[in-house]
Amino acid sequence: MSPENPYEKQGNGHGDLGVLAGGIAVVTGGASGIGLALVEAAIAHGMHPVIVDIEAEAIAEAEGALAAFAAKSNVTILGAQCDVSSEESVQAMAERIDETFPDKPISLLACNAGVGAGGGVLTALQSDWDFVLGVNLMGPVYCIREFVPRMLEQGAPGSVMATASQDGLCASQGVYGVSKHACVALMEGLHGEVGGRLTTHVLCPNVVATNIVTSERNRPDRYGGPRQAHPGAINIQDKFKEHGIPPSQCAEQVFVAMRDGTFYVMAESEADPGYVHLEVETRMNSILQHERPFRPQSQLILKVFSPG
Ligand SMILES: NC(=O)c1ccc[n+]([C@@H]2O[C@H](COP(=O)([O-])OP(=O)(O)OC[C@H]3O[C@@H](n4cnc5c(N)ncnc54)[C@H](O)[C@@H]3O)[C@@H](O)[C@H]2O)c1
Repeated sequence: MSPENPYEKQGNGHGDLGVLAGGIAVVTGGASGIGLALVEAAIAHGMHPVIVDIEAEAIAEAEGALAAFAAKSNVTILGAQCDVSSEESVQAMAERIDETFPDKPISLLACNAGVGAGGGVLTALQSDWDFVLGVNLMGPVYCIREFVPRMLEQGAPGSVMATASQDGLCASQGVYGVSKHACVALMEGLHGEVGGRLTTHVLCPNVVATNIVTSERNRPDRYGGPRQAHPGAINIQDKFKEHGIPPSQCAEQVFVAMRDGTFYVMAESEADPGYVHLEVETRMNSILQHERPFRPQSQLILKVFSPG
């Protein structure tokens, strides 16, 4: 029998997302993939989006593509180049937001920027650990530390989400898996500290049709600098695009969670129904039955990650 969960009484959703309209939506990794879809959804809900990203060109493209929709929705887009793995860069980005929107509350903090890189626990170099944990874990930590205290102080309705992954819920693999388990744990910790005052959510999707496979394009110089994707990665990138969940579907699920209160947002693929649930169940059963960790593989996962 499960013990009663005291948090269920306080709720974790806004009910009506109209309460967030007119506020700012800070979306890291907002120039591509899931982040870009979150920016679009924020505009649709009447929020002023800040497209935070390390790629200046992609920010400019996203601003151009969304300009007409933003004008129609009566909101202002701010593009802010920033490396979330640097606390100074996050602080400078926050100052730009203050200058642009001095009197608007922050209604959504979406810690979404991430890199799919790193390799195995034994093969990864120190620079690989620093790069992947820097972006996928310390990025959300710096953004939370910068924005959540002021969200609490402003007292307006607000939500904080982070994009982890199915890799944060199943038996962990490699540096990426470590970073995504840490991201889930970070959001669980935050929920315990701000629950009832801000809503909190962690997005854990199956494969999504984005540019994540070529993440090495965004490796900052202090972690070794950008790298070309190897031919095998390009092949997998094509398969992500062909078989992955549309990013807009992930964004929609996040906004439904912000409305209804779901904390763990398991974005399942229609082509691979129930797989994320199966991964969670398998891990939890291994823990409870004293078995060794095991990650099941679905047809879709085999199709996307097999060579050729
Ligand atoms: N695509 C998938 O299958 C999948 C599945 C599960 C989780 N995720 C997670 O989704 C999130 C979004 O990735 P995506 O799939 O949309 O990939 P993407 O590469 O299309 O988008 C990621 C964005 O983050 C930006 N970024 C990278 N490093 C940054 C940094 N240091 N500072 C600021 N911005 C930075 C990139 O420029 C890019 O615009 C990531 O956290 C990723 O780990 C993706």
